[in-house]
Amino acid sequence: MRKMKAVVAHELNKFSVEEVTLAAPKAGEVLVKIKATGVCHSDLSVINGTIPVPFPMVLGHEGAGIVEEVGEGVTCVQPGDHVALSFVPNCGECYHCLRAEANLCLKSVPDGKMMDGTSRVQLNGEDINVMQFLGNMAEYAVVPAMSVVAIDKDIDMKAAALVGCGVTTGVGAAMKTAQVRPGSTVAVFGAGGVGLSIIQGARIAGAVKIIAVDLSDEKLAIAKEVGATDTINAAGNSVKEIMAMTDGIGVDYGFEAIGIPAVVDQAQKATRRGGTMTVVGVGRLDQKLELNALMFPMTGKTFKGSMYGSAEFKVDFPTYLELYKQGKLDLDRMVTQTYTIDEAPQAFADLEAGKNARGVIVYD
Ligand code: CU
Ligand code: ZN
Repeated sequence: MRKMKAVVAHELNKFSVEEVTLAAPKAGEVLVKIKATGVCHSDLSVINGTIPVPFPMVLGHEGAGIVEEVGEGVTCVQPGDHVALSFVPNCGECYHCLRAEANLCLKSVPDGKMMDGTSRVQLNGEDINVMQFLGNMAEYAVVPAMSVVAIDKDIDMKAAALVGCGVTTGVGAAMKTAQVRPGSTVAVFGAGGVGLSIIQGARIAGAVKIIAVDLSDEKLAIAKEVGATDTINAAGNSVKEIMAMTDGIGVDYGFEAIGIPAVVDQAQKATRRGGTMTVVGVGRLDQKLELNALMFPMTGKTFKGSMYGSAEFKVDFPTYLELYKQGKLDLDRMVTQTYTIDEAPQAFADLEAGKNARGVIVYD
């Protein structure tokens, strides 16, 4: 049993940094010394109940670190390897994994337990759960080998952590789910970590007009730096402005990266006839998206949901990190603040206040 610090969500709207114990990895598992953890909206959604989970739960699902120990039968990584963590495992055997849809892997049942239904983390002698088989908002994490991929050792761990969730969700939404074509026009509603990644994916895919929409002028400024050609402050009439910018046609590809039904509706209205509207933002379980029963077929639009950027993470993480190394994917600009694990409450306060493109917890 290893003692370590972890950020634990105890019950609705109550979380704290705790000293917990971590058991050794079992068969098919890997012990990772965590080096960087992204502080993501989904962690906040667990805390505030938007994503219902069994408490208590160790937070964290966006991270990277160094393999310390491997359990029986693990051959894909070895101690010393640098790894990025995926919050959806890739079992390689289920219906979806066999059809290049590892982002929908059937092993991804987030009940807080490991694959064998047991826990590795204890708080005060009691088993507790981990988020998405990872729970890497902690100094160490025992994770399934099917949730990690080795990465080059010269890659910044903060960048590698981001690829584990927000970056892949966004870049993949543009490049893989929507399959943005060269020369096309794009509108991205929401310029947080995911929205900025959609913008970058659209830029890499060759879009000529990329319109970022957000309420924060700071975020819109970053959007411009990473690839947006135009920005709109959402305080005005965004749909009208997008129409004016596209000769009354609308954009080829609309994206929503917040998770608010009314904003999905705006993005959908800003998408042209025959265009593709992709929903990336996650709303609440009790919310509904509405489509006009006459206009949806009549306008010939495609409406898509994008789960984890349609990622085949074992291929896509190294690819996105290669784009990062080549300077095509700017991940450094997206890390706007780092924190120690003890500063996790501040990191969440800043997230709620909309202060960061991405805050990252780093460990020594
Ligand atoms: Cu996330
Ligand atoms: Zn699978």
